[in-house]
Amino acid sequence: MQLTVLTLAFAVGGLAQVTDSQIPFPNVTYPDAISPNPNAVLGAQTNQTSPPKYPSPWGSGSGEWAEAYRKAITIVEKLTLEEKVNLTTGSGWQQEQCVGQTGGVPRLGIRGQCLQDSPVGVRYTDFVSLFPAGINVGATWDRRLAYERGKAMGFENRDKGITVLLGPNAGALGRSPASGRNWEGFSPDPYLTGKLFADSIRGIQSTGVQACAKHYVGNEQEHFRQTPESRDYGFNITQPGSSNIDDQTLHELYVWPFADAVKAGVASVMCSYNLVNNSQACQNSYLLNHVLKSELGFQGYVMSDWQATAAGVPAILAGLDMTMAGDIRFGDGLSYFGPNLTIAVLNGTVPQWRLDDMVTRILAGWYLVGGDAEVPDPNFQSWTPDTFGAVHAHVGSSWGTGLVNQHVDVRREHGRLIREIGAASTVLLKNTHDALPLDGTARLTAVFGEDAGSNPNGPNGCRNHACDVGTLAVGWGSGQASSPYLISPDAAIQHEVVSRFGSYESITNNSAFTQINALARRVRDVAGVCIVFANADSGEGFANVDGNYGDRNNLTLWQGADAVIANVSATCNNTVVVIHSVGAVEIDQYKENPNITAILWAGLPGEQSGYAIADVLFGRVNPGAKLPFTMGRNRSDYGADVLYLPNQEVPQYNFQEGVFIDHRGFDHRNVTPVYEFGFGLSYTTFNYSSLTVEKLDVADYKPTAGTSGPAPTYGTIDNDTSAHTFPKNITRIPLYVYPWLNSTNLSEAYGAANFGDNSFIPEDALNGSSFEHPPPSGPNGGNQGLWDILYHIRVNVTNTGHIIGDEVPQLYISLGGPYDPKIVLRGFERVRIDPGKTLQVTFPLARRDISNWDTDLQDWVVSQHVKTVYVGSSSRDLPLSVVLE
Ligand SMILES: *[C@@H]1O[C@H](CO)[C@@H](O)[C@H](O)[C@H]1NC(C)=O
Ligand SMILES: *[C@@H]1O[C@H](CO)[C@@H](O)[C@H](O)[C@H]1NC(C)=O
Ligand SMILES: *[C@@H]1O[C@H](CO)[C@@H](O)[C@H](O)[C@H]1NC(C)=O
Ligand SMILES: *[C@@H]1O[C@H](CO)[C@@H](O)[C@H](O)[C@H]1NC(C)=O
Ligand SMILES: *[C@@H]1O[C@H](CO)[C@@H](O)[C@H](O)[C@H]1NC(C)=O
Ligand SMILES: *[C@@H]1O[C@H](CO)[C@@H](O)[C@H](O)[C@H]1NC(C)=O
Ligand SMILES: *[C@@H]1O[C@H](CO)[C@@H](O)[C@H](O)[C@H]1NC(C)=O
Ligand SMILES: *[C@@H]1O[C@H](CO)[C@@H](O)[C@H](O)[C@H]1NC(C)=O
Ligand SMILES: *[C@@H]1O[C@H](CO)[C@@H](O)[C@H](O)[C@H]1NC(C)=O
Repeated sequence: MQLTVLTLAFAVGGLAQVTDSQIPFPNVTYPDAISPNPNAVLGAQTNQTSPPKYPSPWGSGSGEWAEAYRKAITIVEKLTLEEKVNLTTGSGWQQEQCVGQTGGVPRLGIRGQCLQDSPVGVRYTDFVSLFPAGINVGATWDRRLAYERGKAMGFENRDKGITVLLGPNAGALGRSPASGRNWEGFSPDPYLTGKLFADSIRGIQSTGVQACAKHYVGNEQEHFRQTPESRDYGFNITQPGSSNIDDQTLHELYVWPFADAVKAGVASVMCSYNLVNNSQACQNSYLLNHVLKSELGFQGYVMSDWQATAAGVPAILAGLDMTMAGDIRFGDGLSYFGPNLTIAVLNGTVPQWRLDDMVTRILAGWYLVGGDAEVPDPNFQSWTPDTFGAVHAHVGSSWGTGLVNQHVDVRREHGRLIREIGAASTVLLKNTHDALPLDGTARLTAVFGEDAGSNPNGPNGCRNHACDVGTLAVGWGSGQASSPYLISPDAAIQHEVVSRFGSYESITNNSAFTQINALARRVRDVAGVCIVFANADSGEGFANVDGNYGDRNNLTLWQGADAVIANVSATCNNTVVVIHSVGAVEIDQYKENPNITAILWAGLPGEQSGYAIADVLFGRVNPGAKLPFTMGRNRSDYGADVLYLPNQEVPQYNFQEGVFIDHRGFDHRNVTPVYEFGFGLSYTTFNYSSLTVEKLDVADYKPTAGTSGPAPTYGTIDNDTSAHTFPKNITRIPLYVYPWLNSTNLSEAYGAANFGDNSFIPEDALNGSSFEHPPPSGPNGGNQGLWDILYHIRVNVTNTGHIIGDEVPQLYISLGGPYDPKIVLRGFERVRIDPGKTLQVTFPLARRDISNWDTDLQDWVVSQHVKTVYVGSSSRDLPLSVVLE
């Protein structure tokens, strides 16, 4: 490994990490990963820069935000400096009930915001549901189910008193299959993710709870995402890793779903731990000020990931609105915001308009979804399961105890929806000799594999689910939630077989080979069925499981499952393999094995896992799911990989594959997948016919031009520093982050040496007179012309089999340019069709769908290249095509 020392233009670990320094892009060596073909991605590897963009755009309350802004402004006008600062700053790690909690305004009865993980439910409390993971929603390709799941999770969060649900997740998008948190999101395809991300947000926000679109952006691996965490596993890096992303890839791939989120009205966005182009994602003015708040016209607020804020003033001027969990390092009681923000406003380093904009955005997010009317106060405490306990967990019982957990059961009948999604997300990859569905008449049904069974320590036997024991229903980290119960496949299939008076045996010990082989033989002798369960896990980088620091070390199955499959299938000629995994696994060897008659990928189905797989195995549900990612032969098939060893003091993740991740990369490099993106079988068959194009009469695209009006300010600020010190009559909780100063002397209140230097302030950052509207910009999701529907493409889909079934017709386009993917997904719809019946499906094609990002024009353009539309049942089964005029 070659370590090149990179001289950074900022000091280590402090405020002086000036935003957007133009750091030369270093030469990167990949110690452990594959070397991509240097000729493969011309055009997508250059221009990995984040140029400075100031000032930070102030929200205008456009469109559906108008009423929310009006309400917010009425409040902001009345607030004092401290009250404003309070709303932007977390109270500190474990100081209040929620995983993140801002200060409130007691004087006006405004509560602090309660922010809580996770994208699969409610983390750190009881009597909540464990929903299927994002990757399963991806596999459903079903926008209705994405919405319903979002809504159900919204209700559960709301009833616990949570105002902001920290999800859904579209970053990690899924650049490399081994990346630890891919499963929290939907798919490495930006179009599929964009639709399901937006529908999830609409569902969540329909309940009065704000969604948080995360992690913005380039958070594509766990290794080196945080410096303290990396030191824990032996790497003394000086800054988090930098995702180096060119501007075209940024727009066409990683930001794409965030545009859908903004269009869907998402209230908040979480910026990520990593750097992008060597500038902290949470103080990268190009990403926050320019792309998010100008181009996409985002009217809500940006919060940091927990401990991802690396500076105060520079981050605020670059577009960060809220810091989480509020303190600099977990529990240190210091803050880049809090008193530091009060000081920065008093000394003129942060203009009042910027603070007012931060607070307006935060309150508007709350009003947008009706959170003020809908959400009760928190009735749980994240930091203890006990009913009574410390109110401020971080400082212990001496600062107050009481009833902290009311154990409110918020689940309703969500188990039904969870089961439905579980079955609807199970992908049938192989089915020979009509092995499935099972009709329940097998002489002997045998289930094998640890993954079929329960964790002997209980469904929540490992903190944060950071272990792989028993069946895998969710990955680990902040993206999980506790399970109210977990129906194991063993229990569900046994019940199914026994209720039909059949014979059933299971072995969930993966090293009991004598017993495994003996049972497989008995099944063969009576022509029964063997079902082997296998899994592969991953999660967030703060915990490691079996030496996997979030990211997976390999793409093989865990728990020794390959040996179980090999043993069973060597004997049992009717072996069904079921995989619970966070993403792609190496299963090439099972595809052609004649004794393996069926393969199912069931992802991470949540609490109803066993019932959901039984529904599919026994044919109550006809599988209609499609792979939301590509199953390759091995990791080198993917063309982009996790960086496991630092290549610089600041690790450089060079996204040199550009837009060619997952299926686009397989197509581009001519690699044949084991099972392609979009693939999935059914118990019936479908036929495609009559592809037609209707060109709609739409006005030409008009690039946006001009500038905004001046930044508004609300209320006045008392410049006398003595008006901002701690009031005498309050009890100060130690290490709690308050907005007040502990001295009338600002330098003393600041409390560190480097006070008074303002040389880092970028040009125009304090200028509140106007900001420019770039060509692709517009309110709530960008230039409206990008969302105009230009074409309706129609196709007939016929169910040619004998049972009702779901199909997902998919539309792909070749945009035709030399650096374009061979095809990109631009339409899909999950439909249910009766046997013998034909359904017409209409795909609306928006201007954005046929555009490319032009780095010179800094706008979307429809290129002159010929555009061909393909329709079919997977990314490699596209029988129909037509050229667009
Ligand atoms: C990268 O390496 C090449 C050849 O080794 C050298 O010419 C170039 O100057 C290097 N670039 C940087 C930014 O170090
Ligand atoms: C800030 O919020 C905290 C916690 O809600 C509260 O105790 C404090 O009084 C608030 N400060 C102001 C100035 O309202
Ligand atoms: C980590 O690296 C920094 C800067 O290179 C150095 O100052 C520090 O001593 C190192 N810490 C350890 C534990 O090696
Ligand atoms: C203000 O921020 C600086 C770092 O920028 C930090 O050293 C100092 O402790 C902070 N002050 C307070 C009161 O949190
Ligand atoms: C892959 O990682 C898993 C989990 O750490 C481990 O159980 C398995 O043995 C590894 N596979 C190989 C081939 O080393
Ligand atoms: C398939 O099973 C039969 C026994 O039923 C066995 O003889 C044969 O070797 C197996 N084939 C493979 C590829 O394992
Ligand atoms: C398995 O082998 C048995 C006995 O040789 C045979 O009757 C049966 O059809 C085979 N099953 C499959 C699925 O090939
Ligand atoms: C103003 O306050 C900020 C934040 O506390 C500090 O970083 C900066 O150095 C101060 N500038 C002046 C000129 O006092
Ligand atoms: C490079 O990207 C920046 C924005 O990141 C853009 O302003 C500039 O025009 C691009 N340059 C080229 C040559 O594409």
